[in-house]
Amino acid sequence: MANEPQDDQWKPTLYDGKHSFVWKLGASVVELLAPKPGERILDLGCGTGQLTAQIAETEATVVGLDNSQAMIDEARQLFPQFEFQLSDAHDFEFDEPFDGVFSNAALHWIKEPTKVVESISRSLKVNGRLAVEFGGQGNVRYLAQAIETASRSLLGHLVPHPWYFPSIAEFGSVLEQHGLEVIQAAMIDRPTPLEGADGLRNWVRMFGQHWLTQIPTDKHTALFELVEEIARPNLFQDSVWQADYRRIRVVARKL
Ligand SMILES: C[S@@+](CC[C@H](N)C(=O)[O-])C[C@H]1O[C@@H](n2cnc3c(N)ncnc32)[C@H](O)[C@@H]1O
Repeated sequence: MANEPQDDQWKPTLYDGKHSFVWKLGASVVELLAPKPGERILDLGCGTGQLTAQIAETEATVVGLDNSQAMIDEARQLFPQFEFQLSDAHDFEFDEPFDGVFSNAALHWIKEPTKVVESISRSLKVNGRLAVEFGGQGNVRYLAQAIETASRSLLGHLVPHPWYFPSIAEFGSVLEQHGLEVIQAAMIDRPTPLEGADGLRNWVRMFGQHWLTQIPTDKHTALFELVEEIARPNLFQDSVWQADYRRIRVVARKL
């Protein structure tokens, strides 16, 4: 169910250990938001709170929201001075509205974009702004195809990828339907190196729980080997695994 905290597929140690590039690359989205001292900002899908903390450096008051208990626990432990709330992005409400809503690498995990955008719009002041980046249309095309093909050969049926990867027009129209005017939008190809010889399988371990939970554990190594074999021609370059990221980046204003 969209409104309940998800089964916890998130592993904070693996996330901050081997996938810190996600929030390191998200630092430029904080610049896009340009938080000011005294502003009230929501970090939607805040994960381990690394970017929440960067937003707070500007002396804005920031609240992190995430529906993973493991990620929220880690965020509270790393940054006890900030407020973190365990809630679903599909349906949240705060007593006081925000000057800005920020989100990095989270919105492609959502199931019902209209509900999330409705909640975002409700939580913003008039003239408040939204600055987001997440997977855009065509994101991880080869990577997802490799996992779909490999898992189908082990399971005997197709398990399609679970993500929301919209075009600018698609996401922009959801924003407009909910009283948010698009100020800036871009689709950015960002091939991203994955650390070490196990980089691709670590990515699948971290982000591919949708498939891994359906495949018996003793077959995971076979899955990883097959994914690597299928993905190698497109995603192994100069001896480095690359994730074929394509990000959508949008700034919008509440009318
Ligand atoms: C890749 S992490 C990004 C975390 C953080 N924004 C960063 O840049 O490091 C995606 C986060 O989105 C959260 N998430 C996914 N679906 C969500 C939902 N429906 N409501 C709230 N958070 C969600 C996950 O729990 C996870 O912490």
